[in-house]
Amino acid sequence: MRMPDLVGDVASVLLTEEQIHQRVTELGARISADYQGRELTLVSVLKGSLPFMADLMRAISIPVSIDLMEVSSYGGTATESSGLVRILKDLSKPIEGRHALIVEDIIDTGLTLNYLSGYLRGKNPSTLHICTLLDKPARRLVDIPIDYLGFTIPDQFVIGYGLDYGEYYRNLPFIGVLRPEVYAAP
Ligand code: PRP
Repeated sequence: MRMPDLVGDVASVLLTEEQIHQRVTELGARISADYQGRELTLVSVLKGSLPFMADLMRAISIPVSIDLMEVSSYGGTATESSGLVRILKDLSKPIEGRHALIVEDIIDTGLTLNYLSGYLRGKNPSTLHICTLLDKPARRLVDIPIDYLGFTIPDQFVIGYGLDYGEYYRNLPFIGVLRPEVYAAP
């Protein structure tokens, strides 16, 4: 893979920093109201959800615990999900009896969350819900009930605000569409 041109490889901006900030603020307010008085653990699914998690937790005004999992579903620089889900990092504390909220950056085929929600349900949380910043329904293979959603997006390869191509572009502060010639290149 050639060295990325961080801004030059962006074909168009899909969601600006301001749009993301406003939506994350709204989601934080809803979660704060819904989980008032409950023991809530936010489970961030690394690495893509890192910026979303960091902003969302600061938009939540009730006490929460956080935990971090890392799973991988895409191999290398592929733009398609492989369907294989591997747990690279597990929870550090039990969620049994707590309210768990999975925090994801994107649901694409749904294979990752389908696996992960089954896995976490097996750890006996009181409730398990899903919050995702982005939903790309066009490519869904398994139905996933989304409880908190930022944006529904078209079937385009998006990068930035945590989302990568070949591990790059995660540090863009907005969400953009990657120029197709970048992932078409040998
Ligand atoms: C991405 C994303 C989701 C998953 C969604 O993670 O963060 O976890 O793919 O795809 P799916 O709905 O088709 O399963 P990825 O495996 O690329 O890891 P990353 O978060 O470290 O980039």
